[in-house]
Amino acid sequence: MLERKTYLTKNLKNAKKNKNDEYYTKINDIEKELKYYKKYFENKIIYCNCDNPKESNFFKYFALNFKHLKLKKLITTHYNGGKNSYKLEIVEDINNDGKIDLNDAIKTPLQGDGDFRSEECIEILKSVDIVVTNPPFSLFREYIAQLDKYQKEFLIIGNINTISYNESFKLIKENKMWLGYNSVRHFIRPDGSSYETARTFWYTNLDIKKRHENIVLNKLYSKKDYPKYDNYDAINVNKVTEIPRNYKGFIGVPITFLEKYNPNQFEIIGKMSTTKTDDYNFGYPFLNGKKIYARIVIKTKKIESNKRN
Ligand SMILES: C[S@@+](CC[C@H](N)C(=O)[O-])C[C@H]1O[C@@H](n2cnc3c(N)ncnc32)[C@H](O)[C@@H]1O
Repeated sequence: MLERKTYLTKNLKNAKKNKNDEYYTKINDIEKELKYYKKYFENKIIYCNCDNPKESNFFKYFALNFKHLKLKKLITTHYNGGKNSYKLEIVEDINNDGKIDLNDAIKTPLQGDGDFRSEECIEILKSVDIVVTNPPFSLFREYIAQLDKYQKEFLIIGNINTISYNESFKLIKENKMWLGYNSVRHFIRPDGSSYETARTFWYTNLDIKKRHENIVLNKLYSKKDYPKYDNYDAINVNKVTEIPRNYKGFIGVPITFLEKYNPNQFEIIGKMSTTKTDDYNFGYPFLNGKKIYARIVIKTKKIESNKRN
C-alpha cells in the first residue's frame, strides 16, 4: 500500500516536473540573440535536440534562415515521453522550389522516444557541430554534462539557478561556458498563453565580443566601504559597478556580474552560494552575522599601478 502511494507521489512529481519543462521560446528572443553568432553557423551542422518541430521556433528559425546562415545541415529531434519519436533533417532544396524551408525537411523515425540521453540521440550529437536549443530545466545538469562530455559547441537557454549548479559553475569558472547577450523572461505555454519565469540566460561556448569588453570601474577601495565577510577572506561588493578598481584581494560580487564578465579583466575564484562547501563553493556569505545573497568570488587580474590600495 505504502509502496503504491510512494509510486503515485513520485509519478505526480515527475508529471509536475515534465509539465514545467513544457514552454517554448519566442521567435523574437531567438532572433535577438542568434544574430550575434551568424559567423559560427556557416557550413555547420546545427542540432536542436529538445525541439518538437511543430512547436519549436529554434527549428523554424534555422529552417527559414537556412540559406542566409549558409548552414550545412539542420537536425531536430524531440522527446515524445515514452512513445516513438522521429528526426527531421534539412540539407537542401529537395522540392526544387528555389528556396530551402520547412517543406524540405526529411522525416526519419527514431527507435526510441527522442530523449537527448538516448544512444541514438547521442550518436546524432556526436555527428553535429553546434547544439542550439532551450533544454528542459529539470534536466539541465545532465544536459550540460553531456555537452561537455562530447565537447560540443552550444548556445542554449538556462535559468539563473544554472549558475550555482556544480556542473555548470565549473564550466563558467574554467572559461568553458559564459553568458550570451540577452536574458529571457517570457515563454509560450502549449496552450498559447505567456509564461513568466525568473531571469533566464543564454549560455554558450561560442566566443562573443561582449566577453572582451572591460567593465568600467571608478571606485577605489576603502576599508569602511568594503567590509570583509565573516566566513571568507573577501570584501563584499553589492553592485558590479562598485567593484574597486585597485583592490588586490578576493572580491564577492552579485551573480549578475557574469553578464559583464571579461576573463582578461577578472579571474573567477569560486562562489558563495550554498551551505555545502567544496573546492569552488565557500558557503553562503555572512556579513556582520547576517546571511546575504549569493556571491561570485573574483580577483582583478591587472591592477593599475598608480592607484592606491
Ligand atoms: C523548455 S522546453 C523548450 C522547448 C523548445 N526547445 C523551445 O525552446 O521552444 C524543453 C523541452 O524539452 C523537452 N524534453 C523534456 N525531457 C526531454 C528529454 N529527456 N530529451 C529531450 N527533450 C526533452 C520537453 O518536452 C520540452 O518541450
